[in-house]
Amino acid sequence: MTAEIIYGKEIAGRIKKSVVEDVKIFSDTTGISPKICTIMVGDDKPSKMYMNLRKKACDLVGIDTEQINISSKITEKEFLDIIKEKNQKKTIQGILIQLPLPDNISKTKVFETLNPCKDVEGLTPYNMGKTLMGDEYLVPCTPLAVIKILEDIHYNVKGKHVVIINHSTIVGKPLTALFLQRNATVSICHVFTKDIVSFTKQADIIVTAAGIPGLITDQHVKKGAIVIDVSIVKTDTGITGDVDLEKVKEICSYITPVPGGVGPVTIACALENMVKTMNISSK
Ligand SMILES: NC(=O)c1ccc[n+]([C@@H]2O[C@H](COP(=O)([O-])OP(=O)(O)OC[C@H]3O[C@@H](n4cnc5c(N)ncnc54)[C@H](OP(=O)(O)O)[C@@H]3O)[C@@H](O)[C@H]2O)c1
Repeated sequence: MTAEIIYGKEIAGRIKKSVVEDVKIFSDTTGISPKICTIMVGDDKPSKMYMNLRKKACDLVGIDTEQINISSKITEKEFLDIIKEKNQKKTIQGILIQLPLPDNISKTKVFETLNPCKDVEGLTPYNMGKTLMGDEYLVPCTPLAVIKILEDIHYNVKGKHVVIINHSTIVGKPLTALFLQRNATVSICHVFTKDIVSFTKQADIIVTAAGIPGLITDQHVKKGAIVIDVSIVKTDTGITGDVDLEKVKEICSYITPVPGGVGPVTIACALENMVKTMNISSK
């Protein structure tokens, strides 16, 4: 068996096409030219890369962006004040706060301060709570991208065993809620999980986001499983994920490559969420 490779660009292209139409409807009906604000602290290279990729995507669909790049010397109070100012600003419909943040700034306080109506990435306690309760609206973009990929291949997750390797707030925890909402059985693995193979070998779907190249090999995968690699790791030889694609693709049914798999769909999901924040803010 050789797996079908799922190219995220094609899925992202379809999502972006519908975002272009939604942005036009928003501008035509409200007379507002949509704008989102991205805030980043310090000069973390991957964060800059994400910000630039998102700006490019926003340009393509007709959403203006204000990019704020703050020195890592900023205090927590100064940072929270910037968020409060952007919360109030009527010309900005959505806000994205690029992670990671420096240790002196509490992520909890940041997401408690961010207006949930402008929360493009669905990370405020309100939007996370809604996701957990199954009332999905502004859902974190990467978990949403994983679900969109499975929908695109018409795979029904009901009753399937999903193994997620990651329990972070932006990936594993919300993704668990999305799968449970769709009646999958979910196992979550992390650094302290003993014998990861014993979990992944049982999985109908493996979603891995550990950031460890080569973590998932052909030994980890059941024949015919679906393997979704969320990780993006920069190595000396280029960008890679967790999965040994060449070996694993001979066993599984579908697999996402890195780069070009989950990443482009995540950006498209962020654009879709921007449209949602635009529509909430204009009410
Ligand atoms: N494709 C996209 O759109 C997208 C979006 C966001 C992030 N990413 C990528 O996804 C990866 C994860 O991002 P993140 O922000 O969630 O990172 P993170 O907060 O560092 O989470 C990594 C997770 O993997 C677990 N882990 C690490 N090493 C492991 C191992 N050897 N075995 C089992 N579990 C292990 C960690 O467990 P512990 O917490 O117990 O250490 C943690 O739950 C990164 O490569 C990031 O670049 C991609």
